[in-house]
Amino acid sequence: MDFLKPRLHRMNRRRRIYEGKAKVLYEGPEPGTLVQHFKDDATAFNAKKHEVIEGKGVLNNRISEYIFLRLNEIGVPTHFMRRINMREQLIREVEIIPLEVVVRNVAAGSLSTRLGIEEGTQLPRSIIEFYYKNDALNDPMVSEEHITAFGWASPQEIDDVMALAIRVNDFLTGLFLGVGIRLVDFKIECGRLWEGDNMRIVVADEISPDSCRLWDVKSNEKMDKDRFRKDLGGMIEAYTEVARRLGVIQEGESALAAAGPRLVK
Ligand code: TMP
Ligand code: ASP
Repeated sequence: MDFLKPRLHRMNRRRRIYEGKAKVLYEGPEPGTLVQHFKDDATAFNAKKHEVIEGKGVLNNRISEYIFLRLNEIGVPTHFMRRINMREQLIREVEIIPLEVVVRNVAAGSLSTRLGIEEGTQLPRSIIEFYYKNDALNDPMVSEEHITAFGWASPQEIDDVMALAIRVNDFLTGLFLGVGIRLVDFKIECGRLWEGDNMRIVVADEISPDSCRLWDVKSNEKMDKDRFRKDLGGMIEAYTEVARRLGVIQEGESALAAAGPRLVK
């Protein structure tokens, strides 16, 4: 496999800043930038369940690019700069606030379990929840009291994060409804972007079917990572359909074809 060597060599030299369950962050080409690489790994229940789903990284890269571009267009600040290739995007380096910010419109998942509300019940209003990002602790739910007392974010930053979360929710609800998809809930992560002495909070990480619950409006069919969590199968087909409806990939195009030639082991 000599022909692969130069490429692998170059990739190995790139400094790896962080490796998560579904993504890797590399040093970017300029100071203050990073390369966000989408892997095919799917995990659930704090990585107790793990599989490699070929093509998922390509789909999430494209879907997340599309969503972040649309958010940037309406003035919701994000870390996204541009997509580099099928699996990677250039992002601004931010200081991640260690919170998973969940917005819910319809009862599902842990909310249904915790409060005994039937999955699919429309909530009286959108609900924002915070979880402390800590795998060792299984991302426990926390309140604003915990967040400010332990210094994870200031009261002003929490306000900014909540305002962003609500704007993202309003925008995405409409965007998905327009293509026949119900936005049940989603998770975002936010970061501090420093520009000289000024700091602002921006949306970071990714927004994709890995981090949202998306149900087909007509059939209620799940088009998100619950297909993996609940062993429903058809995960790539569902993600591909989300990408198709958003116009991110064309009719007949598949994620694998879009990924270009690949090495068959
Ligand atoms: P939950 O119902 O399991 O709390 O999830 C709420 C939303 O947050 C759902 O859209 C999936 C997303 N989520 C993540 O993106 N990462 C996670 O680690 C968890 C637990 C949920
Ligand atoms: N992403 C988390 C994990 O790897 C949990 C989830 O999404 O269900 O376990």
